[in-house]
Amino acid sequence: MAVVSTFCKKGGVGKTTFIGYLAHYYATTGKKVLILSVDDQNSVFKLFGEEDKIFEVGDNYLEFLMAGHAELGDVLIEVRENLYIIKTLNTDKLSMKLTLERAQEKTLNYIIKQYSTFFDYIFIDFPPSSSRLTEVLLDMSDGIIVVVGLDSLGLNGFINTIQYFVDNDIDLNNIKYILPNGYSVNRRAPRISLETLQTQAKEFTPNATVLPPLKEKAIIKNIQAEGVSVFDDKPLPRYDQDAKDGLKKDLLELFTYIKM
Ligand SMILES: Nc1ncnc2c1ncn2[C@@H]1O[C@H](COP(=O)(O)OP(=O)(O)O)[C@@H](O)[C@H]1O
Ligand SMILES: [Mg+2]
Repeated sequence: MAVVSTFCKKGGVGKTTFIGYLAHYYATTGKKVLILSVDDQNSVFKLFGEEDKIFEVGDNYLEFLMAGHAELGDVLIEVRENLYIIKTLNTDKLSMKLTLERAQEKTLNYIIKQYSTFFDYIFIDFPPSSSRLTEVLLDMSDGIIVVVGLDSLGLNGFINTIQYFVDNDIDLNNIKYILPNGYSVNRRAPRISLETLQTQAKEFTPNATVLPPLKEKAIIKNIQAEGVSVFDDKPLPRYDQDAKDGLKKDLLELFTYIKM
C-alpha cells in the first residue's frame, strides 16, 4: 500500500487532473483505490462527472469520520469500479482541531492505517492553500508529486512549495517526482523552459525525478466538461476520440516513470 499525493502551492497547475487520472488508471488495472480529497472544492468529482455528489447532503465527509460520527465505510463514495473518493467540507476547522488537540493527529493516522488495509493505493488531492491538515497528510505520504506549470508563476509555485516544506519541517525527500505541465493558466505569464525547471529542481530537490512534461491538450478540458474520464471506455465523436486516445497514450507513458 502506498499513499501518493499531488501538491503545489499554486492552484490551477493540474494537481487534481493528474492524480485523478493516475488513480483511475490504477483502478482499471484491478487495484483498489481511494482518493482523499482534502480540497473543500472537491473538484476531483468533476473528472468523473459526479459533481452532484459533492453537495449531496449527508454525513459522508472526512470530518464526520474524524469526529466519530461516521464509520470508515460510510464516507466512501464510489465513482468507478474499484475507485472511491472521500470528500471534505471544513478543512480549516479540521485543521484547527488538529492544531488544538494532539489526539486528532493520532485519529487521522489510525484512519489512514485502517484504509490502507482495504486499499492498494490512497491518493491525496490537496488544495494550494496550506493548513495543519495538509502538513500532517503530506508527512504521511510515501511519495509526493509536485506539479509545476511551465511559466514564471508556475516556477514561483515550485519555489513557494520548497519554502513551505522547509518552514514546516516536511521532509523534502518525500518529493519523489516533479511533473511539469505545459498548460498555462495565465496567458500573460512568461513561459519558462523545461531546462530552467530542471536546474531549479536539481538545486532544491536533488532526489526527485523530473518527469517528461504533460503537454497542453484542449481535450482535457473538453472531457472534464463532459464528465468523461480519459480511462473511461465510453466512445466519443471521432475527433474527440482521437484526441482522447492520444492523451491516454501520453499519460500511460508518463505513468511508467512512477514507481510507488
Ligand atoms: N495539460 C493540460 N492541458 C489543458 N488543460 C489542462 C491541462 N492540465 C490541466 N488542465 C486544466 O486546467 C484546469 C486546472 O486543472 P486542475 O487539475 O484542476 O488543477 P489544480 O488541481 O492544480 O488546481 C482544469 O480546467 C483542467 O482541465
Ligand atoms: Mg485541484
